[in-house]
Amino acid sequence: MDHSTALTERFQTLFGERPEIVCFAPGRVNLIGEHTDYNGGHVFPCALSLGTWCAARRRAGDTVRFASRNIPRAGVTERPLGAPAEPGSRLWTRYPEGVIDAFLRDGQPLSGGLDLLYYGNIPSGSGLSSSASIEVVTGLALRELFGLDLTLPKLALLGQSAENVYVGVQCGIMDQFASAMGRRGSAIYLDTATLRYQYAPLRLRGYRLVVCNSKVKHSLASSEYNRRRQECEAALSELRRVRPELPSLGALSIEGFDALQDAIADPVCRKRAKHAVYENARTKQALDALRADRLDEFGRLMNESHMSLRDDYAVSCPELDLLTELAWSVDGVLGSRMTGGGFGGCTVSLLREEALPRFREVLREGYQKETGKTPDFYLARPGDGARVVHS
Ligand code: GLA
Repeated sequence: MDHSTALTERFQTLFGERPEIVCFAPGRVNLIGEHTDYNGGHVFPCALSLGTWCAARRRAGDTVRFASRNIPRAGVTERPLGAPAEPGSRLWTRYPEGVIDAFLRDGQPLSGGLDLLYYGNIPSGSGLSSSASIEVVTGLALRELFGLDLTLPKLALLGQSAENVYVGVQCGIMDQFASAMGRRGSAIYLDTATLRYQYAPLRLRGYRLVVCNSKVKHSLASSEYNRRRQECEAALSELRRVRPELPSLGALSIEGFDALQDAIADPVCRKRAKHAVYENARTKQALDALRADRLDEFGRLMNESHMSLRDDYAVSCPELDLLTELAWSVDGVLGSRMTGGGFGGCTVSLLREEALPRFREVLREGYQKETGKTPDFYLARPGDGARVVHS
């Protein structure tokens, strides 16, 4: 039975009626362009085939009922539509509640009650955007149920707003955008300053993109994440004393940054800004390399990205460093780096197909030996973005 059918049956048992609609939104893996999205830079993610399904219907009254097949013991959570946020809530429902809140803050005419049942197959805390996929799938279900005139990029923005305002993580737009706008076989090259984007086909004949899960949950991530954002903002305001018109760190070239960097007094903030500028430049080079089928260069840029995230941005962790170093030691690996926010989660590697068995063996054995943990591997198959799967 596929996930959509299983979800429909469970919905009927739980809520006594069939859903009006079943929607799906994927997770994402970012190939390069990390911690650039809240700095007005470029990102280069692709959507995955893993993601979150949501079965939904409207109901009389103003109660919203939330349930998840992944956490059956949590049962059904009931909340009045638009009830004020519960500060500090750790419940999984803060993500869909946050989306309803974002729609209402945006003036979208939601009314009445709802039944919402979710199922997701992205390992939580793996840095593959399970939360963004919950936000985007909720937004899509609301759009369809209420017949709202909202584009997919707008749904991504509403998902980001839920995360920023309701969940309290000051994330950028990358994850929600990739989840909403993914395209099969392609990565999305997105300018986060303008939301202009282009699809770049991944012609990986003979090569594979492999995601490796360190199984370290990125729990520290939200507080450290917000701190990185503040450090970048502090650096930008110092740069603006000498370049008042500078819109963002993403607007600076490497040469421009090198000439100005002494204006940033604090060495930590200077390193953070350096990463944001250099990583943005690498992301642009990566697009050119991919378009010209120069995969060796793409891989080298991935490696440089990891080193910069480790040394200048300080968002890696020993386990992610170990996995990338093990990957770099395998013949046929073109590049490997941590992906996503950091402090745990996954690495992504680009390798020749025939190197895959050796790659798995070296990472599994080396990682087990050092950490006692067994990493998981997923072949990344770039998939389509959010969609209605059943109505
Ligand atoms: C998290 C955030 C994104 C982005 C990445 C780092 O995934 O949600 O907006 O900032 O970290 O690139």
